[in-house]
Amino acid sequence: MSKQDSHFINVFGLVLGILIAIAIVIFGVARAVGNSTQRKDVQQEDLYVKAVEARVAPPVRIAVAGADNSALTIAAPAASAAPGLPVPADGAALYDAACHTCHGAGIGGAPKMGDKAAWGPRIAQGDATLYKHAIEGFTGTHGVMPAKGGRMDLPDDLIKQGVDYMVQHSR
Ligand code: HEC
Repeated sequence: MSKQDSHFINVFGLVLGILIAIAIVIFGVARAVGNSTQRKDVQQEDLYVKAVEARVAPPVRIAVAGADNSALTIAAPAASAAPGLPVPADGAALYDAACHTCHGAGIGGAPKMGDKAAWGPRIAQGDATLYKHAIEGFTGTHGVMPAKGGRMDLPDDLIKQGVDYMVQHSR
């Protein structure tokens, strides 16, 4: 190693060491400042205290005979506890809500509504097959038709109305 090289390495090492020392000092100062300011506030913060109390609260509460136990009454679930998605009123509404995504523009190989050439051979299979494929799902040569178009919450009859609607507009 030449003299120049070793000089460079010495200086470089010194600079590096100083930078590391400065970083450690800053880290220490930040911790000290945070300790005497933030931590106190965080631990006395209302929401924080409530969250901790909720976490450590015992899972059971005991009713005491003769005492006022009204705080223990179990509230009846609200009628609209699980509203989910709105249920479409008829085939046309169902189409707009659940089928149009794919069958409107022919996404993923879906036969486009109104495309008579695409629907002809499908309609020729008969309603029963179309209903079955729409309700149970179907993988054909064009793509994957998900069961009920992904709306498993809807009744079979409504899906059939949706199929009827698409078929009527595609013959
Ligand atoms: C994620 C996209 C997608 C959605 C949403 C979708 N479909 Fe499909 N559907 C397809 C695809 C793709 C095909 C064609 C499958 C094939 O033939 O390879 C298809 C085919 C069909 C067929 C023809 C089945 C057959 O036997 O040829 C019917 C009927 C149908 N869908 C009804 C519906 C109804 C009703 C809805 C709404 C409730 C719906 N689809 C929503 C993708 C979709």
